[in-house]
Amino acid sequence: MGKGLFKPVLMLLILIFAAVATVQAGSPQPEDGKTGILLVTFGTTFPEAQAAFDNIEKEIKAAFANTTIQWAYTSEMIRDKMAQQGKTAHSPLQAIEEMSSQGFTRIFVQSLHTIAGYEYHDLVKTVRKFEHRPGGVKKIAISGPLLSSPEDMAKAARAVREIIPEDRASHEAVVLPGHGTHHPSNAAYPALMWRLQRDDKNIFIGTVEGYPGPEEILAQLEKNNISTAWLMPFMSVAGDHARNDMAGDGDDSWKSVFEAAGIECKPVLKGFAEYDPFVHIWVSQLQTAMDQSGSVKF
Ligand code: CO
Repeated sequence: MGKGLFKPVLMLLILIFAAVATVQAGSPQPEDGKTGILLVTFGTTFPEAQAAFDNIEKEIKAAFANTTIQWAYTSEMIRDKMAQQGKTAHSPLQAIEEMSSQGFTRIFVQSLHTIAGYEYHDLVKTVRKFEHRPGGVKKIAISGPLLSSPEDMAKAARAVREIIPEDRASHEAVVLPGHGTHHPSNAAYPALMWRLQRDDKNIFIGTVEGYPGPEEILAQLEKNNISTAWLMPFMSVAGDHARNDMAGDGDDSWKSVFEAAGIECKPVLKGFAEYDPFVHIWVSQLQTAMDQSGSVKF
């Protein structure tokens, strides 16, 4: 390079640097859309069970104050019943499409399911449809369900111990029927029970639709010479399964099966989502999803 060229080249470089700096300072932030949280649950038609949803919304709102929260329901039966009551009840697909048309570009979907069963996997498929769609939604991530990782399992075990009523004596059993499924993820229930029983041999997790059921749990209660059992649903809301299958007066309810074997039952009709230690597991999953936003967990 000749000496005569040095000055013009230097000037050109300065101009380029200045131009790049101006573009960077003047360009709009990439955050040009809205961020929304979509809470997805099976749903319930029991008005008494609504307390669980109210508590979830309150806790999520407190943790993510500036983020819009919307709900979707995986159960068509529940959506139909809600619609009959004049309530808005979207499927996850409808909710995401609506959020997209409302200008939400970043959507964090939180599964409020307990285990990663059929409903959770259907939700993953729905979310995936939006993953690489041009325009609209730029980032979509899914987190949850409650029992997602060994860490969540440990947190859930601690949460169970925190919500056990204070007047339960250690020789009394605490039986927590979960929903249960034929999906392999049903294994999460006995896995959680295994953790709990390392510290307290009289805590049992069963299922109303999977394994173990009330008869299997009864055999364990008898083995431990249990005469009193607290019945607490291991379901987010205390709806039909908790009120009828667990604590109802029908012959095959858990309460009736245990009472027929001479075990006194003390049902507690509260869904686990009415207790903050459980909701906080979902809150921290959502927080992690936001921290890692961009990477979608499947
Ligand atoms: Co069911």
